[in-house]
Amino acid sequence: MYVCLCHGVTDGQIREAIYEGCCSYREVRAQTGVATQCGKCACVAKKVVRETLSDMHAAQSIPFTASFKPA
Ligand code: FES
Repeated sequence: MYVCLCHGVTDGQIREAIYEGCCSYREVRAQTGVATQCGKCACVAKKVVRETLSDMHAAQSIPFTASFKPA
C-alpha cells in the first residue's frame, strides 16, 4: 500500500530499504524520501519501520534451547 503519496513510497519499499541495510526511520527517510514533503505519512512510515525492524530482530534472535547439560 502507498504510505507516502507525495513521493509514491509504499510499505514494501520501506521494508526493502530496511532489508538493504537501513536501521532507523531517519535512514529510511533519507533513502526513500518518505515524509520529506508534507509529513502526513510520518506516523504510518514510522510504524512500518518499527514493525519491520522488530520482525527482523525476532527472526534473527536465536531461540533458547535446552541443549545445555551440566557436567
Ligand atoms: S504523504 Fe509523505 S510527505 Fe506527503
